[in-house]
Amino acid sequence: MTTTFSRADVVVTPQLVINAGVIGFGFIGEVHVRAIRAAGGVVTAIAAKTIEEAQAAALKMGVEKALTIDELLQDPDIDVVHICTPNVFHAELAEKAIRAGKSVICEKPLAISVAEAKHLNDLVIENQTIATVPFVYRYHPSVREARARIAPMKDSLVLLHGFYLQDWLSRESTLNWRLDSSVGGPSRAFGDIGVHWCDLLEFVTGHRITHINAQFMQVFDSRGEKSTIDTEDGATMIFKTDKGAQGSLVLSQVSAGRKNKLWFSFESPTESYVFDQEAPESLWVGGLASNQIVFRGVAEESEEAKAYSFLPAGHPQGYQDCFNAFVSDTYRSISGITVDGVPTFKDGLRAAKLTEAVLASSKTGTWVEIK
Ligand SMILES: NC(=O)c1ccc[n+]([C@@H]2O[C@H](COP(=O)([O-])OP(=O)(O)OC[C@H]3O[C@@H](n4cnc5c(N)ncnc54)[C@H](O)[C@@H]3O)[C@@H](O)[C@H]2O)c1
Repeated sequence: MTTTFSRADVVVTPQLVINAGVIGFGFIGEVHVRAIRAAGGVVTAIAAKTIEEAQAAALKMGVEKALTIDELLQDPDIDVVHICTPNVFHAELAEKAIRAGKSVICEKPLAISVAEAKHLNDLVIENQTIATVPFVYRYHPSVREARARIAPMKDSLVLLHGFYLQDWLSRESTLNWRLDSSVGGPSRAFGDIGVHWCDLLEFVTGHRITHINAQFMQVFDSRGEKSTIDTEDGATMIFKTDKGAQGSLVLSQVSAGRKNKLWFSFESPTESYVFDQEAPESLWVGGLASNQIVFRGVAEESEEAKAYSFLPAGHPQGYQDCFNAFVSDTYRSISGITVDGVPTFKDGLRAAKLTEAVLASSKTGTWVEIK
């Protein structure tokens, strides 16, 4: 039986102990391990590219078993598989996990084509699998505050704009698997960070992007020993939504000083909302008579924001807290509790559709409709 999530559930709902297996242990694999534990789960096993890497990770994190990927997928002790590998492996591993009867958390991008993402989403529906994708910026309480405030006035939003800027690829010598399109996929900046921004836009505003016109920016054609780079360092794009708004998005992974600058402004003639991921403890609310800064954790916070506000105001929450809350909500779903706002494989499929539209538009220089 399913019940509806409310703040009271956080305290009183009994939850099954979930046993997790994590595949891939780089930056995000370690974030997942911490989040599983914060959500009350048990990290039963880790697998990685090699068994030696898995053993080192298990030792570092105090995890009982280091397994090969196939052993982990078939392990009867594991309820949920967390896929934290480079992009190209996501679809195959997610399919194997679903077919092995596991719940799945698969990193974004869910797949590197719409066809693969659709296949996975169909499998999830067929097998009634709980399968989620970490669009974790949804879990900042200030984002929930914006969503709660926008819900009654969303149709009057006219301008939705922002950026997502990083600098970790600013040096020509920097190499990473994301720079190899056979591993990272055909889109880099949009597939890696643009999908987060678009997910946030659609989640917070309830608008759906219907048309996109994108131009790619490529600063480096070669990097270090890699003579050909065939994916974008950034992009500029304009778009239209199903509710008649228009907007723009600027993306870059080569902007000096910008570390993880995800920023949006959603505007109407009477109210505007600004969120800055690098300063996530408050939301800027624009009005005609006055502007306000709404701090996380204050008494006036909406119920939606309160549900994710775990610490008193002035005690900063951040990225890892978002991840913890996302894994916790996924595990609640596995336990049979219906939770609002959990990003699923359907949202992963949506991101794949947007990515293909952006790629198509960047090639032709024309507007592309997202069906
Ligand atoms: N949701 C988010 O906010 C977020 C943030 C960062 C990364 N990610 C996603 O997480 C994934 C991993 O990114 P990362 O930054 O942790 O990368 P990373 O390079 O830090 O780590 C990748 C890990 O995968 C392992 N690996 C490589 N090839 C493998 C294979 N064939 N089979 C199994 N494991 C393999 C590597 O050894 C390494 O442990 C990417 O898909 C990325 O898009 C998501």
